[in-house]
Amino acid sequence: MEGKNDMSSGRPTALVTGASSGLGAEFASQLAEDGYDLILVARGSNFLQRFARELEANHRVRATPVAFDLSRPAAADELWEQIGSKGPCIDVLINNAGVGISGPFARSDSHATQGMLELNINALTTLTRRALPGMLELGWGHILNVSSVAGYQAGGPGMAAYYASKSYVLSFTRALARELHSTGVTATALCPGPIRTSFWTAAGAQQAGLLRWIPQMHAAHVAASGLRAMRAGRASVVPGVLNKLTAFLGALPPYRISLEVNRLLLR
Ligand SMILES: NC(=O)c1ccc[n+]([C@@H]2O[C@H](COP(=O)([O-])OP(=O)(O)OC[C@H]3O[C@@H](n4cnc5c(N)ncnc54)[C@H](OP(=O)(O)O)[C@@H]3O)[C@@H](O)[C@H]2O)c1
Repeated sequence: MEGKNDMSSGRPTALVTGASSGLGAEFASQLAEDGYDLILVARGSNFLQRFARELEANHRVRATPVAFDLSRPAAADELWEQIGSKGPCIDVLINNAGVGISGPFARSDSHATQGMLELNINALTTLTRRALPGMLELGWGHILNVSSVAGYQAGGPGMAAYYASKSYVLSFTRALARELHSTGVTATALCPGPIRTSFWTAAGAQQAGLLRWIPQMHAAHVAASGLRAMRAGRASVVPGVLNKLTAFLGALPPYRISLEVNRLLLR
């Protein structure tokens, strides 16, 4: 365990968005095991409350469930005001909540796309901005932003806006990591390939083209890899050898090849 923003409990605090399932639930469990108090954010309140009680019982930490829809404009500011009024400073911010939308962009639901961009980009950016002053004042803190191997690709025909949102997260976090150099505060982009979670079903892409033949990693391994890179102060990490190769090849020119490969994968 590490951290300086000790609250009355004497333990450091981590805020995890999208903490009710998949990767977010793994981050929460692993941080609880490491002795962090937690603020758990997701929309569904019943499961979140049960999960928080379970973490408290198993790990003797404090876990506060906060049911919040981060796809609404200004939601992240409202969330920060709500948790700020209770007093916690955040040692670790994990911007994990994210959704995907699959299918041709011309036939996509505009409202759903706006919500996805609010969640994947704006909420992540706002929470980062809100957390930084406190961390910089103490000269301590970690921000872990969940991007994707998709962030390295030239584009994702079939999931165009989702891929672009993950490129934003990667670019933003790398630049931020550089800006934060020597401050004691770090920013890390976690860029996983396919993971065994409900993400693909929710995105309506469980049958997506060749993608279904690509091995999916366990959320526990991906979360552990992200937390290791975060503690080491790395600007980005791609868990898994195959995913590293995908990230490397996806960023190589000419970009038409990456676009075509991704189109086939997502078709
Ligand atoms: N699974 C993959 O293959 C994969 C690969 C690369 C990157 N990623 C990224 O990994 C992150 C986590 O995804 P996952 O695979 O763990 O998916 P998941 O199992 O579907 O979990 C998504 C989490 O986000 C929460 N969430 C969704 N919409 C929200 C909203 N509007 N406001 C607040 N919370 C919301 C969900 O809870 P509620 O529904 O209760 O709100 C849930 O806790 C995402 O950023 C995703 O882009 C996933």
